[in-house]
Amino acid sequence: MKNVLVIGATGQIGSELTMELRERYGNEHVVAGYIHGADPHGELKESGPSAVVDVTDAINIECVVKKYNIDAIYNMAALLSVVAESKPILAWKVGIDGLWNVLEVARAYHCSVFTPSSIGSFGPETPHLLTPQDTTQRPRTMYGVTKVTTELLSDYYYHKYGVDTRSVRFPGIISNVTPPGGGTTDYAVDIYYSAVKGEKFICPIKKGTLMDMMYMPDALNAAISLMEADPKRLIHRNSFNIASMSFAPETIYTSIRKQLPDFEMVYDVDPLKQAIADSWPDCMDDSCARNEWDWNPSYSLESMTSDMLIKLRKKLLTKATLMSD
Ligand code: SER
Repeated sequence: MKNVLVIGATGQIGSELTMELRERYGNEHVVAGYIHGADPHGELKESGPSAVVDVTDAINIECVVKKYNIDAIYNMAALLSVVAESKPILAWKVGIDGLWNVLEVARAYHCSVFTPSSIGSFGPETPHLLTPQDTTQRPRTMYGVTKVTTELLSDYYYHKYGVDTRSVRFPGIISNVTPPGGGTTDYAVDIYYSAVKGEKFICPIKKGTLMDMMYMPDALNAAISLMEADPKRLIHRNSFNIASMSFAPETIYTSIRKQLPDFEMVYDVDPLKQAIADSWPDCMDDSCARNEWDWNPSYSLESMTSDMLIKLRKKLLTKATLMSD
């Protein structure tokens, strides 16, 4: 049986990934790694083991890997694109010095490693339409610089030391459990919260700006399926383009309005977010992922919108009930 460590287990993706891995491999086999101040709560805390794992501390990672006899690490610790622009040194420290620690421990203890890359690994010179798997990557954000380095360092450890590193380039991830923090694609999550709360949504991204997006269940499935894929079929490793839907703000707005006709949206464009969004692909070509490990997403914009609205209504209602008790 596999023992898995999720680093960054209380983050947007980590929190749901940990629960999904526990569902698949058994609660006791999946350790939720978190940093002080971002402790796990509720089901995440109660359903299985957890440990403080600071990605910038190699000895800390090694102790946890040894203690729990870990053989697969999902390294989800990172700063998102907008925050990374204001804290570039920290973004590098967590994203790259941290990755280096993880890879060294993985090399010593024979662990496989998943470290996500992103649409942010591309830049303005990248072809924006059907962005190929192998193409120009010259990002101008610190987030992008760390993601390209992540891809290269992960491939290096595979070719040089045989560490089983694999990863995907995540689009903007939309979810209803843990909110994202400081990303360019966050608007596509925030819009659903505004809609369900009956508030007018102020969109920081310009009309017509296309970006790849994905619903969380597909994102989790991508990470786990790639880690379980037959290595003999993998021509690429770090990192695979994965795509499921690409839309602009007015398209997601229209999709929500079909169910909530009174919902209103206005634009107040954030220049930093807009510049980042303009430098990213409009939609990626994910045929390598489809061919090499059978990637196939389940959700469309319409089915995601229906599910998001149902789940968020329930979540916000439960929260309101708890507060009034
Ligand atoms: N969601 C990320 C961001 O917006 C991109 O992968 O920073």
